[in-house]
Amino acid sequence: MEYKDYNFGLIGLGVMGQNFILNVADSGFRAFGQDLDQEKVDALKKAGDDLEKVNASTDVKVFTQSLSTPRVIMLLVPAGKIVDTVIDGLLPHLDKGDLIIDGGNSYFEDTDRREAELKEKGIHFFGAGVSGGAEGARKGPSIMPGGDKEAYQHVKPIFEAVSAKYEGDPCVAYLGPKSAGNYVKMVHNGIEYGMMQLTSEIYDLLKKAGGLTNEELHKVYSKWNDGRLQSFLVEITAEIFAQKDEESDGDLIDKILDKAKQKGTGKWTSQNAMDLGIPIPTIDIAVSMREVSALKDERVAADKLYDRPEPLEMEKEKLISMAEEALYFSFIMAYAQGMSQLAAASKEYGYELNMATVAKIWRAGCIIRAGLLADIADAFKKDNDLKNLLLAPSFVPQVQDTISSVREIVAFAVKSGVPVPGLCNSLNYFEAYTSSHLPLNLIQAQRDNFGSHTYERKDKEGIFHTEWGK
Ligand code: 6PG
Repeated sequence: MEYKDYNFGLIGLGVMGQNFILNVADSGFRAFGQDLDQEKVDALKKAGDDLEKVNASTDVKVFTQSLSTPRVIMLLVPAGKIVDTVIDGLLPHLDKGDLIIDGGNSYFEDTDRREAELKEKGIHFFGAGVSGGAEGARKGPSIMPGGDKEAYQHVKPIFEAVSAKYEGDPCVAYLGPKSAGNYVKMVHNGIEYGMMQLTSEIYDLLKKAGGLTNEELHKVYSKWNDGRLQSFLVEITAEIFAQKDEESDGDLIDKILDKAKQKGTGKWTSQNAMDLGIPIPTIDIAVSMREVSALKDERVAADKLYDRPEPLEMEKEKLISMAEEALYFSFIMAYAQGMSQLAAASKEYGYELNMATVAKIWRAGCIIRAGLLADIADAFKKDNDLKNLLLAPSFVPQVQDTISSVREIVAFAVKSGVPVPGLCNSLNYFEAYTSSHLPLNLIQAQRDNFGSHTYERKDKEGIFHTEWGK
């Protein structure tokens, strides 16, 4: 039996791919999948139930011939060389005007290159970040597409139907030309790294200095998730503390090795922020901490060499309350840094991002979804050129109300010997960004002293050099 004119094609039927394609079918579109692995093809056909709605093949030719034109083909394959290999395999079977969408976490410069190469062949190419993990792919992810605006119209109805909804609004929007979609997803992941590091530091502090049990931690994070910290990451953190270990007695969290892996998006965020000259220290330290975590053997050896102070005492309820304020404050710093990077990248790379739209499509479906994003979207709606969230009038009271607790709890953690580099960097980012004077005048003097690098003066225009010490 032959079926034709499927509306949507998807290559890469791993968990994400299978879930995404079933979501497309549930939303009323006919979807066709392709994967070289026959088992995955069979699994999808079985899960889809009705071949007229969901079908699949291992054969690229069968796949492309089953799609209506212009074809809309999404790739959900690992980022890197494999994307190029898949595209090369597809090209002989495509027609001008077809659209390829890379839904993986590809590096944005690769997307720019692919877009330019495919444009010459008359094929549209989109980089579309997809966030929400396997469950999001099935039930509604946040989707961040960038590329040719007209070509987007072919996929818009499908993406809007399958995406997560926030109060009825689809968590997808055309973001901008070229690699805008991948760039926004990269920074999303950078913010994700920051938020994960911050939630884990607070856990450490509550456990080591506050003596909270996993059950208490579960309750604390659950309660926080009902308040202004409401977010996917806080929600799953609460869930994690309640998880029993199936292999042995006790809680699973205590059995998990403290070495965190990474696939690169956080590192790219930091690297590119440096290229743009945008400070994102909360995200930078989150990447560094994954690296520190990987040095387990060295850490164990070093631990034996140095004394650590006993944690200071603080009344439990006070500690929990200050921890909530510190986490809220630091989440704001992570978003502020990520958004400032996006604003700078938008100018540098010509993405013409609507910053409120970015915040809006993150309100549901994605890993960094949080109640806070509604406020962030409002702030950028009022001023798309807002350079930093800390300059938004609506954020001043929220930050002002928490700052003294943050200073106190960071000092408490430092004196207790509990590492809280994410909290420290968030606090110091705030302290520095809101300082009209920084001691970098001294750095300029040093540069001029040892290398005649010149300096500017406060009291008059011009470039100056001094023969120091003479
Ligand atoms: C998402 C996530 C996802 C990412 C994982 C793992 O938005 O659904 O960001 O894209 O792959 O979070 O990333 P790391 O392995 O780098 O932690």
